[in-house]
Amino acid sequence: MNRRLGVLISGRGSNLQALIDATRDGRLDADVVVVISNRPEAAGLDLARRAGIEALCVDHRLAPSRSDHDRAVTRELRARDVGLVCLAGYMRLVGPPLLEAFPRSVLNVHPSLLPAFPGVDAQGQALAYGVKVTGVTVHLVTEELDGGPIVLQRMVPVLDEDTVETLRARILVEEHRAYPDAVRLVLAGGWHIVGRRFVRGPQPSA
Ligand code: GRF
Repeated sequence: MNRRLGVLISGRGSNLQALIDATRDGRLDADVVVVISNRPEAAGLDLARRAGIEALCVDHRLAPSRSDHDRAVTRELRARDVGLVCLAGYMRLVGPPLLEAFPRSVLNVHPSLLPAFPGVDAQGQALAYGVKVTGVTVHLVTEELDGGPIVLQRMVPVLDEDTVETLRARILVEEHRAYPDAVRLVLAGGWHIVGRRFVRGPQPSA
């Protein structure tokens, strides 16, 4: 698999930083070749530039439709020969133009054990529900919000004394470990999809 990563962000970019760090300290044999934000003020854009990585904004507010925005992002990714697209705090639903251009090659990190607590404020949802264990999911992206085949999950306990802030911080530490691990798994190949399941090993013959 082509090891050129394109990372899509909307904000801070700490998962982006974790991916960059992993590519640079030898934990992940890949290169982040472009970072694209849908918001010009995303702090992650500066973080990428400081790391010497091309960073650009494709502002969704300037696109006439969601599909037009997806197409514009896809063009930028393709122009840089990206092989795997990593959503990292990208606050947009990704649609067919991008998913068809990168089949089974778009990943997302989500701060809960899916299918529990999809969507925004997964950590607050977990705390309010009262679960004792939550965590991190890295999954292949489909059109369904936080709904694609799960590549990897990591558990994080919920402590009695947790607030949304402390829980969010502990989950984030685990996100930063899990995302590079999941990218490594996907790039290594030798996996297949059975129904909703991401299964390691060769595709069984029919
Ligand atoms: C992370 O918690 C990620 O799981 C969620 O949004 C947050 C983004 O943080 N989708 P950052 O921009 O990577 O710091």
